[in-house]
Amino acid sequence: MRIAVVPGDGIGPEVTREALKVLGALATAEISLFPWGADHFLKTGETIPAGAFEMLARDFDAVLSGAFGDPRVPDGRHADEILLGMRRRLDLFANVRPVRALDDSVVPLRRARAADVDFVLFRENTEGAYSGRGRVTGAGTSGEEAVEEDVTTRRGVERICRAAFEFAVAFGRTRRPGRRPRVLMADKHNVQKGGGGLWHRVFREVAAAFPSCENRHMFADALAHEMVRSPASLDVVVTNNLFGDVLSDLGAALQGGLGLAPSGNVHPGRTSVFEPVHGSAPDLAGRGIANPFGSIRSLGMLLAHVGRGDLEERIERAVAACLAAGETTRDLGGKLSTGEAGDAVVARLAGGKARGSGRAPRAPVRARRAGASPRRRRAG
Ligand code: NAI
Ligand code: MG
Repeated sequence: MRIAVVPGDGIGPEVTREALKVLGALATAEISLFPWGADHFLKTGETIPAGAFEMLARDFDAVLSGAFGDPRVPDGRHADEILLGMRRRLDLFANVRPVRALDDSVVPLRRARAADVDFVLFRENTEGAYSGRGRVTGAGTSGEEAVEEDVTTRRGVERICRAAFEFAVAFGRTRRPGRRPRVLMADKHNVQKGGGGLWHRVFREVAAAFPSCENRHMFADALAHEMVRSPASLDVVVTNNLFGDVLSDLGAALQGGLGLAPSGNVHPGRTSVFEPVHGSAPDLAGRGIANPFGSIRSLGMLLAHVGRGDLEERIERAVAACLAAGETTRDLGGKLSTGEAGDAVVARLAGGKARGSGRAPRAPVRARRAGASPRRRRAG
């Protein structure tokens, strides 16, 4: 297992450290740390070196990333070039965001239990409203007008829908007794006749190729309502970039908040990037109080991507045990520091209870050379 690690900015390095601690307790992996982020950019003027994307794709099975964004770089240029760069240049078209509550205590809905909140959202990650195309005319005048281009391609819709159905087949389960797993597509083709219409037609075509799954359509606004009213009715959701962005934050809230939500930027079969849903949280950075569970669960998704779904399940169970025992950071009402929360997960993996801030056991992790001069280290 060859894993590139890009901790990034703010709380990124703090939570990533805990994920590596968990990795060290579970498996042997070759870790290469890359310093790309705001500090590196401000020191050197470099966001990400030439050839880095090719190097990641060639030399690594997966990338674990922290978060990017720093008040000292107001236009977020480095974040765009590093994070959006990886998503685009590695063609990571599926943003996979599980919405899985691991303990009743973290579900904010009055009548739902953790078992009711367990679905996966597939967000198209390369096109749509985030094309970066558009124009503003008459800036500052009363006639000012902004046009944003929302670009949808048949190829783009087809591959994300296909990925969602393939996942549903592999996932193979549903909490709706006696039913086949269901893929639900959300758009607004009632008002967005072009892009929405294309989504609607292509979804139907792809669905026809997966008879072992049910398919369903909802408008994106109605889905937001359904996610709160009846999350247990959902298995797999697929939607475009913008709706997926918004709905996945709602999904994060359903499973206990940003501190807990994991994600993957995936191209099935290729080097993919896994990161917590949250950003760099400058308000928490350097204080040792950020919740590392989102990063740790993202590591679990990474491990599943490289064929170790068994380790992902162990991580999920360990985090669930921590939540049940109140071994959490303060965003979830606990008292642990970031490091202690990571230790608690490691202790649960070993079948024990957390022992305050004891050190995590170290597993051998071989450092390796990689093209664009990573900071190499022995990680445990
Ligand atoms: P954010 O996710 O960093 O923070 C939002 C709120 O959630 C804050 O109150 C924060 O304290 C809290 N929070 C986030 N992660 C947490 C954790 N692990 N434990 C406990 N509380 C946590 O989003 P925000 O404030 O909108 O953006 C901050 C910076 O991060 C910006 O520069 C933004 O561009 C960047 N960002 C980067 C992302 C990425 O790298 N994937 C994603 C989202 C934002
Ligand atoms: Mg977002």
